[in-house]
Amino acid sequence: MIGVFDSGIGGLSILREIRRQMPDADLLYLADQARAPYGPRSLEEVEAIALEIGGWLVDRGATTLVVACNTASAAALESLRSRFDQIPIVGMEPAVKPAAAQTASGVIAVFATAATFQGRLFESVVSRHGTGVRVVARACPEWVELVESGSVAGPEVERTVKGPVSEARAEMADVAVLGCTHFSFLAPVIAQTGGPGLVVIDPAPAVASQTARVAPDPGDGGSLRLVSSADPGRLTALAAEMAGVITPLEPWEYPS
Ligand code: DGL
Repeated sequence: MIGVFDSGIGGLSILREIRRQMPDADLLYLADQARAPYGPRSLEEVEAIALEIGGWLVDRGATTLVVACNTASAAALESLRSRFDQIPIVGMEPAVKPAAAQTASGVIAVFATAATFQGRLFESVVSRHGTGVRVVARACPEWVELVESGSVAGPEVERTVKGPVSEARAEMADVAVLGCTHFSFLAPVIAQTGGPGLVVIDPAPAVASQTARVAPDPGDGGSLRLVSSADPGRLTALAAEMAGVITPLEPWEYPS
């Protein structure tokens, strides 16, 4: 079984893609909505939360963990890998590498949370893959709030997305990296706001392919369980509405 988690519903963008690529895999998704958003928290706090959730998922039978959250990956990927060294752990890192390969202007924009930009992972990704390009980094906590409340289209969303996207365009960015899993749901608005010259990179397909490559025992029942640490009913409704994910199984409780 594959255990997937995020602070909230952002990771459903990854879950949806895993289901598309691995329809028979058994999946357990935890949305830690009681403690969302993670972005304004300290890296130490998010690390402790991620280790706790990792333990919970492993206790319930996960044989692969997918950290479907850039912030938790920035804070805890190394610690998760050393604590649960018997299983593969797939994490998120901002897609600077493909962005650097695709930019014509030499400027790329990364939209993520403040905590993601503070982590060493971001610094290391930029120094490994961003040489020769200018990286415009923008923290967009209000985008997380929008998505978490189920708003991904309409005038308010367009207004909120416009500021950071227009600033990045004014700085000549021609590629936008979605460095927060919540932002995949805003990809159409970001693309529309940025205009035809902006390429938007959504990492979900690549993360799902990586999961398919490394998961040793993904299961074969195609089962899906969605668990929220706050409000399971709301999570189920948002998952159906936003990601077309219908949960056939009764949720478990977190924590329990
Ligand atoms: N989905 C998250 C990420 O990828 C977390 C957003 C948040 O909780 O602030 O970074």
